Amino acid sequence: MKSTLLALAFAASSQAALRFGCSSISIQRLDPLVEPGRIPSAHVHQIVGGNSFNATMGSGANNDIADRATCTSCFFSEDFSNYWTAVLYFKARNGTFKRVPIKANSALEGSTDGMTIYYTQKDFNSNGNAKITAFPPGFRMTVGSPTTTEKSDVVNGLSYTCLQNINTRGSETQEFPTKPCPAGIMAIHHFPACWDGKNLDSPDHQSHMYSTTKKGTFVEAGPCPASHPVRMPQLAYETIWDTTKFNDKSQWPADGSQPFVWSMGDRTGYATHGDYVFGWKGDSLQKAMDSSCMFQACGNGKPLLSQNAAAINNCKVKSTINEDTEGWLTSLPGAM
Ligand SMILES: *[C@@H]1O[C@H](CO)[C@@H](O)[C@H](O)[C@H]1NC(C)=O
Ligand SMILES: *[C@@H]1O[C@H](CO)[C@@H](O)[C@H](O)[C@H]1NC(C)=O
Repeated sequence: MKSTLLALAFAASSQAALRFGCSSISIQRLDPLVEPGRIPSAHVHQIVGGNSFNATMGSGANNDIADRATCTSCFFSEDFSNYWTAVLYFKARNGTFKRVPIKANSALEGSTDGMTIYYTQKDFNSNGNAKITAFPPGFRMTVGSPTTTEKSDVVNGLSYTCLQNINTRGSETQEFPTKPCPAGIMAIHHFPACWDGKNLDSPDHQSHMYSTTKKGTFVEAGPCPASHPVRMPQLAYETIWDTTKFNDKSQWPADGSQPFVWSMGDRTGYATHGDYVFGWKGDSLQKAMDSSCMFQACGNGKPLLSQNAAAINNCKVKSTINEDTEGWLTSLPGAM
């Protein structure tokens, strides 16, 4: 018995996986990564994380947003990173749009929206003896593209799960589900995890990173290539779009197509994308990745600091854009 426990303890070293909820700090048209300084940006985003999120956030190694933020809407209180995606709208038969509500991470009491964030080893819970190097201050990246119009033939880590119930996993598709989903649609953004070791960002926000993901999400990834040799945490977002109140098929398009559309106008689902600006305080993320903690048990100082739901939900960023994103809209915000 004793030796089994020891063996388990040994096998568990450096196999940390973080999984935690963040509530939304803002839903508005800003994109400091792809369109810095543009007010408003092209389409609406949902944003979680630190409150230094703004139209312009600076760049470079000396621009540590963890030094500027005073609160975060994430469970781990040392995480002032920003995470964002487009938002989903329902298009009614009469042509108007209504934003689809978001179902918050189940551990976030009282939160009405937000996402679940993961930082894992290369295949979720073992690191294949690869050292996981935390992102450095000033690091940022995107995955996917708002202008994609066709199905990708490479695995790109972007997918949807049609939730039969809240625990449905697998059966991921690259396009929006074609039938009503009884518990909502989960949008998954799985970022590349191999870094070139030099650039905190790149002109397209992607070429400094490389994805070794072979199948869907959270499966064993191959080794990092020589061009991008540094294995970083496998970052992933899950957002549960609560489409349930739009599941009446008599309200769906008469041609039988599905009614959901991303805020940039995409009805296929292929243009799904996610943005990341690193902002963990000091070496907190590295400490966590070097430990063997799992999920929210990494909080309470073991080794990360964490906060309660009230503090999470109190952290907000005021919208600087004076427009309605929430009513029945005659066009998508920003649509020409
Ligand atoms: C956002 O930027 C504007 C100026 O561009 C500034 O006035 C404002 O204080 C900033 N907000 C935050 C939360 O940093
Ligand atoms: C359009 O349809 C939606 C959903 O049926 C409804 O709530 C809304 O009031 C309608 N708007 C107009 C202008 O008819």
